[in-house]
Amino acid sequence: MSDKRFGKKGWTPERIGSLAGKTYLITGATSGTGFQASKILLSKGAKVVMLNRNPQKSIDAIATLRKELGNNSDLSFIHMDLADQASVRKAAVEVLEKVTHIDALICNGAIAQVPKQEFTIDGFESHLGVNHYGHFILQALLFPLIETSQGRIVVVGSEGYKMGIKTIQFDDMNWDKNYHQNNTYCHSKLAQIMSVYELQDRLKNANKKGVKVYACHPGASATSLIKTSGNLSSRIIFGLMMMTPLVQSAEKGAYPELMCATEDDLDERGYYGPTGRMYFTGPVGECKLEPFAKDKAVAEKLWTLSEKETNCTWTL
Ligand SMILES: NC(=O)c1ccc[n+]([C@@H]2O[C@H](COP(=O)([O-])OP(=O)(O)OC[C@H]3O[C@@H](n4cnc5c(N)ncnc54)[C@H](OP(=O)(O)O)[C@@H]3O)[C@@H](O)[C@H]2O)c1
Repeated sequence: MSDKRFGKKGWTPERIGSLAGKTYLITGATSGTGFQASKILLSKGAKVVMLNRNPQKSIDAIATLRKELGNNSDLSFIHMDLADQASVRKAAVEVLEKVTHIDALICNGAIAQVPKQEFTIDGFESHLGVNHYGHFILQALLFPLIETSQGRIVVVGSEGYKMGIKTIQFDDMNWDKNYHQNNTYCHSKLAQIMSVYELQDRLKNANKKGVKVYACHPGASATSLIKTSGNLSSRIIFGLMMMTPLVQSAEKGAYPELMCATEDDLDERGYYGPTGRMYFTGPVGECKLEPFAKDKAVAEKLWTLSEKETNCTWTL
């Protein structure tokens, strides 16, 4: 779907004005779309706080960005491992000590295509634990500050949401019976996307109008995602795809999350990403979201379960 405001090229960062005085938090910013999004936000004058699991990679990323953008860039990182709920809680406390407002929390970090069933520290299937539960608790803990800031929550999903079982596997959330490296990734991404629209509903019911919550996806982008956790054949297949026009740059992959974090008057019920063939590449705009991603009964059940599993109740 095209948005006339953006023209044929779709949304691009040229639309972002000065971000001086604004603060953005972004998870998983050592590489890929998170790194590129950080770079663009900094180039517009924003303060960026990365929430990363790997301290050395974070130091290197900061050094690279400072070299490119200047030593005055307002960039820092807080250690946070999404695979460890205690680490997420600790990071949230540190965020609240270090920043006075949050213009957007961009939930970007993820793992994908883990070949064998693995568990997070807290015993969750690894994709679900890192991608969904990690971000679920982070959002809940930072929500009070996002609310006083009248800020946004941006969730980076994936077109994978429609390539798996297309629902939440409540009877076996850890995939003990049918572990599959792609279905589990897709399951976690569907959980993340469903929770966006469920949170919107909950905010509306609580008459909380200030915070905006968005779901987007980066299409197919040349990042480290498959290289980090995928098996050899997945890495070879995606490596070959990266040499074709089917895959775009990591920078372009960052545009949808940047759009959701900065663009005014964007419909929250929409779902944003590249709109070209198969939504892999192309002008960034609104994409069609399959109805099962807004299945209210499933979303409510997932929310209740997520609060129970993370031992974290949202105060709305
Ligand atoms: N690339 C694509 O084609 C594609 C397609 C659909 C959706 N996506 C989505 O795009 C987002 C960005 O991924 P990307 O493609 O840019 O991949 P990437 O280059 O691998 O970046 C992923 C980031 O997440 C971090 N991360 C992984 N596990 C973490 C944990 N336990 N705690 C904290 N951070 C963690 C990584 O940190 P380390 O550096 O420590 O590994 C890295 O910084 C993800 O949400 C992904 O699902 C990507």
